[in-house]
Amino acid sequence: MTSHIPFALSLLGAVASGLQGSGVGSTLNPPPPPPSTASAPPSAPQQNTSSLPAPSAPVNVPGSTVSTFNASGNGLGASPPTNNLVALCVHCQLRPKYFDGTKTHPYCSKSCANKIKASNPKTGSGATNGNCDFCHNRPKYNDGTRTHDFCSKACARSLGGPQRRSTMPGAGANNKAVCQAPGCQNPPHGGPGNDYCSMAHKTSVQKYRIISYHSLARDSLGETLCLMCLLAPKMANSHFCSQTCIDDVEAKGPMVLEVPLGHATFKSVAEQFKSSWRHYGSACPPVRRIYKIISPPTSLANYNAYRAAVESRGQFLSAGRTEGNENRRWHGTRRVCNLGDKGHTQFCSSPQCSLCCIIRNSFDLSLFGKKTGWGRFGKGIYTSSTSSKSNDYSHNDCQSSLKAILLNKVVVGKGCKLLQDNTTLTTPPSGFDSVLAEKGGSLNYDELVVYTNDAIRPSFLVMYEP
Ligand SMILES: *[C@@H]1O[C@H](CO)[C@@H](O)[C@H](O)[C@H]1NC(C)=O
Ligand SMILES: *[C@@H]1O[C@H](CO)[C@@H](O)[C@H](O)[C@H]1NC(C)=O
Ligand SMILES: *[C@@H]1O[C@H](CO)[C@@H](O)[C@H](O)[C@H]1NC(C)=O
Ligand SMILES: [Zn+2]
Ligand SMILES: [Zn+2]
Repeated sequence: MTSHIPFALSLLGAVASGLQGSGVGSTLNPPPPPPSTASAPPSAPQQNTSSLPAPSAPVNVPGSTVSTFNASGNGLGASPPTNNLVALCVHCQLRPKYFDGTKTHPYCSKSCANKIKASNPKTGSGATNGNCDFCHNRPKYNDGTRTHDFCSKACARSLGGPQRRSTMPGAGANNKAVCQAPGCQNPPHGGPGNDYCSMAHKTSVQKYRIISYHSLARDSLGETLCLMCLLAPKMANSHFCSQTCIDDVEAKGPMVLEVPLGHATFKSVAEQFKSSWRHYGSACPPVRRIYKIISPPTSLANYNAYRAAVESRGQFLSAGRTEGNENRRWHGTRRVCNLGDKGHTQFCSSPQCSLCCIIRNSFDLSLFGKKTGWGRFGKGIYTSSTSSKSNDYSHNDCQSSLKAILLNKVVVGKGCKLLQDNTTLTTPPSGFDSVLAEKGGSLNYDELVVYTNDAIRPSFLVMYEP
């Protein structure tokens, strides 16, 4: 466990700064490759979870869909279908945890919750050995210095009861101030801005935060933790827990935030990669890392404004679609640096590195045709719903054991279906917002083309085996 800690720290401290982009971005995929003919089913991504503690393995309830993913929210990105990802009740370990529409509870039912309360009136005291005071099922957590009363973050929260945090550290003065360490009722030491009664409690929470990051694959609450602080559960329709974390994130954009393995967002993105791998001649390679791309606030505001305008024209929400008919589409491009490799979260400054340029500044139509000078459907920004097609455009101009691909939010609006090339297009055909080049005609795989920069933003950086 200890050997993983620098990795977590690099994640928590990931801040991209001082890199003002030159405005370069790639806009065009080169012509498509020859079709594959052989057929073999794609293989599942592999995950090594043998080193992770806690026995409550998450259960993926059937019925979750990724392709029709509802991506509305606060504009910071899509939120995953978390209510489909549950684990077992910490008391009976038999039935799934209860999800009330907002958060997942540690128990499945009132009866299990009451049994827990009856057997555990308040925080345990004295005992330093044995199982968790809350679930009685798993060993107590030892941080290397002392043994805590609980086994996991989920149980620590339950022990903390109603005093558990509702705001993040540094969120300003607190009226009913209580130390933010789990279960501690002491007042914070010092004035506003300090959330802990003692340095010992502050340190133990920070350590616990790192430990819990590595327990995420087995901790169902970890599946829905805020991607910024990895401490509190995220809000519905957001990747983050609070306005404080959203403000924190926005102030630091552009940047990439690693999504922990086992997080619901990781599963959702990896599942889309896998289910849209349609080159059956090649097995779907395993996804190894996923990063949430944080765009600067003004860039997001422009995207949201465009999406709202398309929505008001097309009324997609009332037809049961997402706002502006927003969808997630793949884009493969050139990577010159090692962004996305283990420990690499800083952008490079090379204008040749399309990956960094797109993440920093999104896509830029003014650069259309720079590389290929040609587009099947004219001067637009090209993406695909097929990961294996975009994979063909992902190129490493660097030494790396992984390849990079972008998953983007795209405002599809009303898409004009085209089967034949039309290289003269510079806008969507009249009455439409985009071009949907469907499989058939001259195309082996689908393409989606938009003709305005604000119709698309990069959302996730996905690293996978070549
Ligand atoms: C999984 O991780 C454990 C502990 O880090 C290691 O001993 C084992 O070799 C790994 N297995 C694979 C298949 O990578
Ligand atoms: C998407 O989610 C939002 C918020 O939960 C909801 O208001 C909207 O109706 C949903 N749209 C679709 C198409 O499911
Ligand atoms: C290409 O699109 C333009 C604009 O919509 C249209 O006028 C033209 O007829 C199209 N050309 C072909 C070959 O379909
Ligand atoms: Zn947070
Ligand atoms: Zn780069």
